[in-house]
Amino acid sequence: MENHLKTEDEENIDKVTKKGTTRRNIVLGVLLLICLAVSLTVGLVLHFQKKEDIPEPKKIIQIRNGASVNCHPDHLRDPTQIECENRGCLWSESVEERVPKCVYKAENTGYIANITQTPTGYTARLRRRGISRVYGMDIHEYMNVNIETYSTHALRIKFYPDGKFYEVPEEALTMNKVSGTGDRLYNVTIVREPYFGIAVTRISTGVTIFNTTLPGLMFSEQYIQMSTKLPSEYVYGFGEHNHRRLLHDMNWKTWSIFTRDVAPVDGWNLYGAQPTYMNLEEDGNANLVFLRNSNGMEVDLQPKPNPAITYRVIGGILDFYIFLGPTPEKAVQQYTEAIGRPMMPPYWSLGFHLCRWGYENLTTLRTVHDRMVEAGVPQDVQWGDIDYMYEHLDFTYDRVRYQGLPDFVKQLHDGGQKYIVMADPGIGADPELVRNASINSPGYYMYADGVNNSVFIMTADGKLMRGNVWPGETVFPDFSNFNTTVPYWQKWINFFRKEEGVEIDGLWVDMNEPANFIGGQYDDNQGTGCERNKWNYPPFIPNVLGRGTDGRLFNKTFCMDAKQHWGIHYDVHSLYGHSMSMVTHKALRNISPRKRPFILTRSNFPGTAKYAAHWLGDNQSQWRQIPWSIIGMLEYSIFGFTMVGADVCGFWFGITPELEELCLRWTQLGAFYPFARNHNAVNFRHQDPAAFGDKFAEIARSVLMTRYKFLPYIYTLMFHGHAEGKTVARPLLFEFPQDKATLSIDRQFLLGPAFMVTPVLVNGSRTVDCYFPEGRWFDYYTGHEIQTTKETVVLDAPLEKINLHIRGGYVLPWQQPANNTVHSRGKPMGLLVALDENHRASGDLFWDDGDSFETREKGEYLHVKFETAKSNFLSIEVIHNGTVSTDGLAFETIELYGLSRIPAEVKVNGRRVGRGSVRYQGANEIVQIFDQHLPIDQNHTLSWIVF
Ligand SMILES: *[C@@H]1O[C@H](CO)[C@@H](O)[C@H](O)[C@H]1NC(C)=O
Ligand SMILES: *[C@@H]1O[C@H](CO)[C@@H](O)[C@H](O)[C@H]1NC(C)=O
Ligand SMILES: *[C@@H]1O[C@H](CO)[C@@H](O)[C@H](O)[C@H]1NC(C)=O
Ligand SMILES: *[C@@H]1O[C@H](CO)[C@@H](O)[C@H](O)[C@H]1NC(C)=O
Ligand SMILES: *[C@@H]1O[C@H](CO)[C@@H](O)[C@H](O)[C@H]1NC(C)=O
Repeated sequence: MENHLKTEDEENIDKVTKKGTTRRNIVLGVLLLICLAVSLTVGLVLHFQKKEDIPEPKKIIQIRNGASVNCHPDHLRDPTQIECENRGCLWSESVEERVPKCVYKAENTGYIANITQTPTGYTARLRRRGISRVYGMDIHEYMNVNIETYSTHALRIKFYPDGKFYEVPEEALTMNKVSGTGDRLYNVTIVREPYFGIAVTRISTGVTIFNTTLPGLMFSEQYIQMSTKLPSEYVYGFGEHNHRRLLHDMNWKTWSIFTRDVAPVDGWNLYGAQPTYMNLEEDGNANLVFLRNSNGMEVDLQPKPNPAITYRVIGGILDFYIFLGPTPEKAVQQYTEAIGRPMMPPYWSLGFHLCRWGYENLTTLRTVHDRMVEAGVPQDVQWGDIDYMYEHLDFTYDRVRYQGLPDFVKQLHDGGQKYIVMADPGIGADPELVRNASINSPGYYMYADGVNNSVFIMTADGKLMRGNVWPGETVFPDFSNFNTTVPYWQKWINFFRKEEGVEIDGLWVDMNEPANFIGGQYDDNQGTGCERNKWNYPPFIPNVLGRGTDGRLFNKTFCMDAKQHWGIHYDVHSLYGHSMSMVTHKALRNISPRKRPFILTRSNFPGTAKYAAHWLGDNQSQWRQIPWSIIGMLEYSIFGFTMVGADVCGFWFGITPELEELCLRWTQLGAFYPFARNHNAVNFRHQDPAAFGDKFAEIARSVLMTRYKFLPYIYTLMFHGHAEGKTVARPLLFEFPQDKATLSIDRQFLLGPAFMVTPVLVNGSRTVDCYFPEGRWFDYYTGHEIQTTKETVVLDAPLEKINLHIRGGYVLPWQQPANNTVHSRGKPMGLLVALDENHRASGDLFWDDGDSFETREKGEYLHVKFETAKSNFLSIEVIHNGTVSTDGLAFETIELYGLSRIPAEVKVNGRRVGRGSVRYQGANEIVQIFDQHLPIDQNHTLSWIVF
C-alpha cells in the first residue's frame, strides 16, 4: 500500500514536469509531493500506534529454518497462497510482519555442479535443478562460474551463461589487480550437496563471510537471483539512497539501485548506482563486496538470526569482487585499488563554494558577491546554475541578463577566486530556440554539430532519440562513444571559453541519471512513450520509483531500447553519469593538459570518483535533512569517494525566518564536508552566509576560517585518499571497529583519523551528545581533555559553536586562514600536536602547487613527516622534496595538546626557546610555541621537558 501510494505521488510529479510547464510549477509539484509524503508518514505512524493499542489475537509464529528467500517480491501487493504455490514455492501464513509469506524451497531450485580446480581457483559448470521458469522466462539450464583468487586479500566470483551476454564494459570500469603480500586471508569452499553454493571463510577467525548456499539461485535473461548469508547484521552501503541510518535496518528492507533524478527524501533509488556493501563481522573485521553489474536491481536485507542479502538483478551477469580488509579502512583501500582511486582535487576546491539556481542576472550575482566580501566570509568558488544560460542551452550565457559575465569572471580570477558552471546532457533541439541561440551567441550550433557528427543517442529504429529537459525538446550525446563525444564536448567547452569568453575553472554535470521530463521519447507525432517490448516493459521490475502498475522502467528517463555504444540503454542506463564524467574529464584534460580537472557530477557509478566529485543532490531546507547528509557523505566514503558533500542549508524550499538557525547549524556542519557548498533553488530567499545579517555572517566566517585553517590537513587526507584509498570523511566505526558503540554512530564523524566533528542537528538545541571512543580527546578550542571515554557525553553547543575534538596521537598541519586559498596558501603554517597516553603523536603534510595534474605521479610535491621518535621529542622530517616551490612557507607556531604540565624547557632544533615565545592557551592546556621560522622543506626537531 505504501509503495502504491507513493507511486501515485510520483505520477503527479511526472505530470507537472511535462513540456511547457514552468519551473514554478515544478516547485509547487514538489511541495505538494512533500505534503502528501508527510501526511502519508503521519498516517502510517498513527496506523502503527493504533495497532499497538489494540492487542491482536496472538499469532503462531513459525520460525523458518535458516535464511529464506522471497519468492513473490512484487511490491505492489501481497501474493495469495495459490499464486505462491503455483510458483512452486512455500507458503506460510503466520509469519511476522515484513517477513515474506511466500519463499523458495530448497528442494526444487538452484543448480548442481561439476567443479574443476584451476591454477588460480575453480571453474564450475552448473546445471539447473527444479523449476525452469521465472516471470515467464526460461531459467538458463547451464551456467558457468569462475572463482578467481584475485589477490591474497580479494577474490572474484563470476557467474555467466553460455553464449553472448552483457557485462560492464572494460572501457567504463577496468578492474585493477589488488596488491597483497603474505598469506591468503580466505578459504573458498564449494558446496556440492544437496545443491551448489560457494562459501568464503576468513582463515584467521574461521568466520564464513559469504555463503551462497541458499534456495532460489537462478539465472535468466532478465532475472537473476542470488542470496548470500552474512556473518553478522552489521551492513553498510548500497546506494544511492536517502538512508536514514548508516547501519542498515536489516528487517526485510528492500533497496533498489537504478540511477534516477529524484529529491533525496524517501527510500527510492537516487542519482547514483553503487552496488557495494560493507559488512562488519562480530569481531570487528570488515569485508566489502562489490557486484560489478550496471543493470537495474534490488537487494533484500534479512535480519538475525539468519542475516542475509538477496540480489535480484534484471540483466547482465553476477560478477562479485570480495575484499577482506580486515579493517574497514583496508577493505575500502582494496576496493579503490581495484576500481581506481579517487582523483586528487585541486587545492582551491577545498575552499568554500557558493551557488544558487536563480540569481536571475549579473546584478544580483554581483550584489551577493559584494556582500560576501564585505562580511569577510571566505569563499573560493562561485557557481552558475542553469539560469546563467541562454534559454537553458549548454555553453551559452544570456547576453541580456548576464551581460558582462566574462568580465565578472575575470574579476573573480583577479581576486583569487574561481568560477564553475553547470552543463546538462540535454542539447536543445527546438528549431526556434536553436535559431535564437545563434543570435544570442554568434557561431553557436551545438545541435547541428552533434547531428552532423553522429554524437547523439539513437532510438531502436535508428532515429534521433528526442526527449525533453530544461531547453524543451532535447537530444542527448552518447557519452559512451568517446571517439565522437570527446571532441564534440571539448569543442563546445572551448566555445564557451573562447567565443563566449567565460573562462571557467571546472564543470558541473547534472541531470545525467539521465533525466528526461517525458518518460521515454517523442514519436513522429510528438506523442511520448516507448515501444512495448521486453526492454521497455521487462517481465520483472525492481522496486524503483515510478515503476507504476504497468511495468515501465523508462519513467523520467529514456526508452530502454535506445542505442548507445556500450549497449542498449536497458543495460547501460546507470552508467550514463559515469560516462559523462569520463568524457568531461578527457575534454578538460585535452583543453588544459597541465591542470587538474575539477568536475562535480550528480549521477555516478563505482569508479566515477577517479574523474569527479559528487554532491548529494537536491535536498531540502528541513531539520530532518541535516543528519541524512552525514549518512550520505559517509556512505560515499565506503563507495570510494573523497570529495563529497550535501547542499549546505538545503536546496529546495528556502530558509524562512524560522529556519535561520537551521542554516546556521548547517553552515557549521558543512564547513567540514569534504566538499563544502551552499546551494539554493530558484524563487526562494537568498541563503548565502552573508544574507542573514552580521551575527550570522560572523559565526559563518568563524567556522569557515576554522575549515581554512585546517586545509593543509584536509589536503593531506585527500592525498592519502588518492594515493592509498584512505577515507577522508570517516565513520567512527572505521577507526574503532571493535567498539560496538561506534557501529551505529552517524551523527558525528571524523575527518581522517584525528579530527572529530559533532554538529548540532536539532532545532533550538544548545547541547549535543557526543560519544568518545577509547583514547585521548581534546577540545579543539581549549585543549581541554575529555575525562570520560567510551561514553556519550553531553557537550555545550551554543549557537556560535560547533564541537570539534582532536584525537591524541596525531599531528595536524595547519595554516593561517584567509578569504580564499590563493591568499591562505602564502600564510604562516603551524602544527597542532595532540599527544596520546605515551606522549606520542605522528602525522604528515602533503604540499604541491595545488593545481597541476598528477603531481604525485610526477614526484612534484613535498612530503613532510611528523613523528615523536621518543616521548618529549618531535621530529619534522622531509621525506620527499620534489620540484615544488614552497615560497618561503614555514611552521611558525607549534601547539602541544595533552602535556600534563607547563614545560620547564622547550627546544627547537636544539636551541632553547625563550620565555617570550611560549604562551599558554585555555586553562594552560595548550602550550603554544610561536615566533618560530621553520621552513617546511627542511628537517627540524622539537623537544620539551616537563618536570
Ligand atoms: C558432470 O559430469 C558428468 C560426468 O562427466 C556429466 O554426466 C554431467 O552431465 C556433468 N554435469 C554438468 C552440470 O555439467
Ligand atoms: C583453510 O584451508 C586450509 C587448507 O585446506 C585448511 O587447513 C584450513 O583449516 C582452512 N581454514 C579454515 C578456517 O577453514
Ligand atoms: C554454507 O551454507 C550451507 C547451507 O546452510 C552450509 O551447509 C555450509 O556449511 C555453509 N558453509 C560454510 C563454509 O559455512
Ligand atoms: C535582477 O534580478 C532581480 C531578482 O533577483 C530583480 O529584482 C532585478 O530587477 C533584476 N535586475 C535587472 C537589472 O534585471
Ligand atoms: C575509436 O577510435 C580508435 C582509434 O582511431 C579506433 O581504434 C576505435 O575502433 C574507434 N572506436 C569506435 C567505436 O569507433
